[in-house]
Amino acid sequence: MSVEDEGTTEQHHAESTDTGTAGTPKLRAENLTKQFGRIVAVEDVSLDIQSSEVFALVGDNGAGKSTLMNMLSGVHAPTKGQIYKDGEPVNFSNPSEARNKGIETVYQDLALMDDLDIATNIFMGQFPRNGFGPFRIIDWDETYERAEQIMMDQLGRDVDIKTEVEFLSGGQRQLVAIGRALAFDPDVIVLDEPTSALSVDATRLVQDTIDKLANQGITIIIVSHNIESVLNHADRIGVLFRGSLVDIKQPDETNLEELNELMTTGTLSSGRLDD
Ligand SMILES: Nc1ncnc2c1ncn2[C@@H]1O[C@H](COP(=O)(O)OP(=O)(O)O)[C@@H](O)[C@H]1O
Ligand SMILES: [Mg+2]
Repeated sequence: MSVEDEGTTEQHHAESTDTGTAGTPKLRAENLTKQFGRIVAVEDVSLDIQSSEVFALVGDNGAGKSTLMNMLSGVHAPTKGQIYKDGEPVNFSNPSEARNKGIETVYQDLALMDDLDIATNIFMGQFPRNGFGPFRIIDWDETYERAEQIMMDQLGRDVDIKTEVEFLSGGQRQLVAIGRALAFDPDVIVLDEPTSALSVDATRLVQDTIDKLANQGITIIIVSHNIESVLNHADRIGVLFRGSLVDIKQPDETNLEELNELMTTGTLSSGRLDD
């Protein structure tokens, strides 16, 4: 798919169309609503996300970010509305159904095994195997080779994949968690707060990595509190306020103050005067 298609590399940061499926968004949310009892956590959200796009979803605590993300990744079924992947309606009753459609999620807690090495963490639960039936055994050569490919070729990190994860920095741990998502060969990765616990340098490392993946044709959705970080590198920023998507901005047409205002009030007071 688009990973081999040189044309798509240039299209990152371009607004729409993917070659071949011109006009068809990678992911579409149509009137998505999620209610928990009487609480409407997400209300009537419609949204198109293009192939190779880095789309950030921001909003205050309780705005509905996790709920929207959880519908896209199969954790919650929508109360109303429909999700489309590559133009096709999809209904997920659990995350593995989303995974089968190429959507991987990296959760905020990362869930890495500290005393195991990078390669083992990347392939945990789905090791390459040799042999047949009950005699299938883990193919460690293949495991290390593929882990090396993911870390080096896809993430651009020259690390020893036999390093135990406990010795890694916060930024490197985030990359290993992304590497584990990549092992499933997704075309959409949803990242929950990928830079929330990171230093400035580590944040930059993770941002660079996300850009690399987008340039490989992978669509990235980032849920984030870190407006500064998403302003630096997202293609578009969607703002959720009390469950509703109140605006979508491109970084070059907005700023920190404006996004803060949108997040906290759901609207913009300035700018109205000259409308
Ligand atoms: N499983 C749940 N049961 C009941 N209410 C929930 C559940 N998950 C989220 N909510 C409510 O839905 C709203 C949106 O929450 P959430 O999606 O977690 O927002 P965010 O991630 O932006 O902080 C909040 O009012 C929250 O209390
Ligand atoms: Mg949340």
